[in-house]
Amino acid sequence: MERITVHDKNFVPYLTAADIEVKVKELAARISADYVDKRPLFLAVLNGSFLFAADVFRNLTIEAEISFIKLASYKGTTSSGNVITAIGLEEPLFERHIILLEDIIDTGKTLHEFIPQLAHQQPASIRIAALLTKPDALKYPVHADYEGFAIPNKFVVGYGLDYDGLGRNIPAIYQVEL
Ligand code: XMP
Ligand code: MG
Repeated sequence: MERITVHDKNFVPYLTAADIEVKVKELAARISADYVDKRPLFLAVLNGSFLFAADVFRNLTIEAEISFIKLASYKGTTSSGNVITAIGLEEPLFERHIILLEDIIDTGKTLHEFIPQLAHQQPASIRIAALLTKPDALKYPVHADYEGFAIPNKFVVGYGLDYDGLGRNIPAIYQVEL
């Protein structure tokens, strides 16, 4: 793999499509083993997780449902100053086993603010599957129950992740060249 340019930045190869495929299959197998007879409801957080969600979902060997949501942040009156709204969340979550599918957990802010709202509906459980985490960037107590790769605190693109709208279609993951 060679270095690529997206907009004005250069990126270097970081994870190959094969690396990603192996890891995603491993996560799907673990989730399948953990959720036998639980019929989990996956909530894929758009846009970044669309490829990860598709690949996890097609590798499951159990009954499962999936729904796609977009999180929008508004200035609000909570302690953190933000209210996160889920667009597209229509399923009742009461007594469901929820698995959030995220492309990347950076500071953890988004999920930290959103999860209490899910919890409000009294699901049976809530877990997080994240393809990538950046442990050095984490500022909120958010833990990925199913983690693909813990990566350095550098911007990445590819496999659904974008730099200002571009790069999502690249099958591998590239890291910004500093
Ligand atoms: P927080 O800080 O709430 O952020 O955990 C999660 C969201 O930030 C975006 N993000 C990235 N997107 N390359 C990207 O393309 C990155 O390296 C990156 N780091 C964070 C992403 O949208 C994620 O949902
Ligand atoms: Mg993004």
